[in-house]
Amino acid sequence: MRLTIVGAGRVGLTTALALEHLGHDVTCIDSSQAVVESLCRREMPFHDPALESLLASSRVQVFPELTAETASAGVVMIAVPTPGLADGHADLSAVFAVAERVAELVGDEADVALAIKSTTPPGTAAKVRESIDSVLTERGVEANVNVVSNPEFLRQGSALTDTLYPDRVVVGVDDETAHDRMRELYGSIVEQTFDAPHGLQRLANREVAWVRTAPVNAELIKYGSNAFLATKLTFVNEIARLAQSLGGDIRDVVEGIGLDPRIGSQYMQPGPGYGGPCLGKDTRALAAVGADLGEETPLLESVSKSNAIQRRHIVDRLEDALGSLDGATVGLLGLSFKAGTDDVTDSAALEVASLLLERGAIVRAYDPAGEERAKARRPEMAIEYNERPDEMSDGCDALVLMTDWPEFRELDWVHLATRTKQRLVVDARNWLDQEAVEAAGFRYLGLGR
Ligand SMILES: NC(=O)c1ccc[n+]([C@@H]2O[C@H](COP(=O)([O-])OP(=O)(O)OC[C@H]3O[C@@H](n4cnc5c(N)ncnc54)[C@H](O)[C@@H]3O)[C@@H](O)[C@H]2O)c1
Repeated sequence: MRLTIVGAGRVGLTTALALEHLGHDVTCIDSSQAVVESLCRREMPFHDPALESLLASSRVQVFPELTAETASAGVVMIAVPTPGLADGHADLSAVFAVAERVAELVGDEADVALAIKSTTPPGTAAKVRESIDSVLTERGVEANVNVVSNPEFLRQGSALTDTLYPDRVVVGVDDETAHDRMRELYGSIVEQTFDAPHGLQRLANREVAWVRTAPVNAELIKYGSNAFLATKLTFVNEIARLAQSLGGDIRDVVEGIGLDPRIGSQYMQPGPGYGGPCLGKDTRALAAVGADLGEETPLLESVSKSNAIQRRHIVDRLEDALGSLDGATVGLLGLSFKAGTDDVTDSAALEVASLLLERGAIVRAYDPAGEERAKARRPEMAIEYNERPDEMSDGCDALVLMTDWPEFRELDWVHLATRTKQRLVVDARNWLDQEAVEAAGFRYLGLGR
């Protein structure tokens, strides 16, 4: 099937390469010249090693703008950003701009399923349909452009795996032809009949649910999922703070709680507070939807507040241990919001860095992938970036594990102990080998214990 994807970022490019692998004929459009040039050279514009070989052998064409031909493909997918505005609402300007451009370009014969893959608030698909209809009416064109809500659930760090082996594909659609086309597009993912790409292990016995529903429900499924995940993470962080004050151990507590199958053990590990480009902005956007509707959403609002408390908690814990942060040198292990990505959007590490600087600390950082994006996102922050963890540790009073990059588990703690001033490690993910860290002579502080 001929497919055009507008926005060749983490979602759009992953989807493009996965769907091309299934045999579809894919064209990407991206308004960033740097992204277009990088993809034309078959170089990744962001860190995701799993996509590199698919991109290298891909025949996907990449252009800076839609044309009448690419706007008239059987499926046109919108995967542009929907960042949060200051008042919490999602900025939908790029989504509407793309949809209107499609309506300006298609001819009478066009029959397009316009699939919104960007995360958009409930009601967006209906508004996009109105806006397309008004452009088509104004132009006197009788094209068939059916709007579909097709939210994305991939996680950075495992984006290709999540795309090829998802739990579910959600399609919010009213029109039968558009539904059937989306079903055909995803057919071999839903039935799991494709050959796994080289180097990507096949997940056995994967059952992929095909969730057909109304567009507004599809949109709410996406927002509800992210708000729930944010709530679960925030909840366990609150329990961890209580466990710590009570002299308990959160590891035993979460194991005991998670054995209840109604609760489960996933997303139940304390950490530095959720971050990244989705959970924070989507939780705030859902609360903003509630406010627009006159519906109170106190739970959603407190989730955002509690997450901010957790980030502060990491800094408070460090300050208590050192006595004062004023003049102390702190080395951050990791800046990206999670391992496997260079994305530092709403990263807890950058927030912790900002709080440390406010309290007078000297902040150093090492990240295997996220340094350039951190510098670009927060150019005003006086972080001293380092190329190696041992170089960063020289003369540090404390090291703080912020991101769960596997290489941090392999650190030579004995060597690091010889380079640091005060031997303190704060493990903001309860993730390091405590015994190894302590055996090297460090004082180790985890979360919730
Ligand atoms: N990153 C994730 O983990 C993830 C997961 C699920 C859903 N989402 C959602 O998917 C959407 C896209 O997110 P992303 O992470 O892929 O963003 P991204 O920033 O990685 O990529 C977006 C791409 O769109 C391009 N772009 C921006 N405006 C454009 C326009 N008007 N026309 C053409 N191209 C344009 C940008 O240059 C960029 O390359 C967002 O709504 C996001 O919330 C993201």
